[in-house]
Amino acid sequence: MRPSILLGVLPLAQAVRIVQSNDDGWAEINIRTLFDDLNAAGHNVILSAPAEQKSGTGSSDAAPTVVDADGCIHNSCPGGSPPTGSNATNPRLNYVNSFPVTSIKFGIDTVAPKIFNGAKPELALTGPNVGSNIGIQAPFSGTVGAATYAVKTAGIPAIAFSGWSGDPTAWDQPTPLHSQIYADLALNVTSQIVASGAPYLPTGVWLNVNFPEVSATKCNNVNQFKFILSRVNWGIFSSKDTEWCGSDRLPTETDVILKSGCYASISPGDADDKTTVDAARQKLVLDKLKPILSCLP
Ligand SMILES: *[C@@H]1O[C@H](CO)[C@@H](O)[C@H](O)[C@H]1NC(C)=O
Ligand SMILES: *[C@@H]1O[C@H](CO)[C@@H](O)[C@H](O)[C@H]1NC(C)=O
Repeated sequence: MRPSILLGVLPLAQAVRIVQSNDDGWAEINIRTLFDDLNAAGHNVILSAPAEQKSGTGSSDAAPTVVDADGCIHNSCPGGSPPTGSNATNPRLNYVNSFPVTSIKFGIDTVAPKIFNGAKPELALTGPNVGSNIGIQAPFSGTVGAATYAVKTAGIPAIAFSGWSGDPTAWDQPTPLHSQIYADLALNVTSQIVASGAPYLPTGVWLNVNFPEVSATKCNNVNQFKFILSRVNWGIFSSKDTEWCGSDRLPTETDVILKSGCYASISPGDADDKTTVDAARQKLVLDKLKPILSCLP
């Protein structure tokens, strides 16, 4: 199923160099579907993600080791494969037998210079994670850990995407509806950030984006979704948020995801502590995303 969104392909002038990673593994269908969408939109993309399932590993980082006897996730590489490796025919697709942070670091330091002729990635995209990363879950997520690493250590603006629905699925299976919808929505947010111009995000900021449930009967079409500017956690004791939708307090990711309807949350996060960023930088993100944002009813 091809998404309607691809009919409006980006002009090539807006193509950017992107590094992708996740914590579910390089051969997970969510990340591969987004890889395909980004390529179809004309972007210059590399993928560098864990050889195995590495959910819940936060910001862990360790030298990659030889792949165990079982091989990479979903049998995507043989047992005993080297610590890092590429798809035999596509050097843009890479596995790293270690953590999400180690994987994106390898993508930035080792794969990018080769594929991008020495140039640095302009944007880091992680996920879409299999399962939500909302509020207090976020700091434990490897998908979030990889995004905040890109921002903090490499100075590359980053967006972490997560989707409520679906189970781990191999890259070579038929694309599930939720994977296609989450990839199309992720491309929409990415296109808006790119169209807003460099710097794509304020210094030290990453975006935590969560997509709601998708099923055959619920939120089954990309046109049904609305994007909501949110905060990672409750702000009861925090200073005011940026003024938006008639309030100085943004809804939490939990408020957005539990609202009936097809609402996706976008939280501007601080890469240092993985929580909500200050109002001044929220405002900069708001101005960039305004064309695609709605207010939560
Ligand atoms: C490697 O790439 C080829 C060609 O695109 C594809 O058919 C194959 O499924 C890929 N395998 C993995 C593990 O990425
Ligand atoms: C992106 O999402 C917004 C908000 O839902 C929508 O209005 C817009 O048409 C989408 N853009 C594309 C290219 O699909």
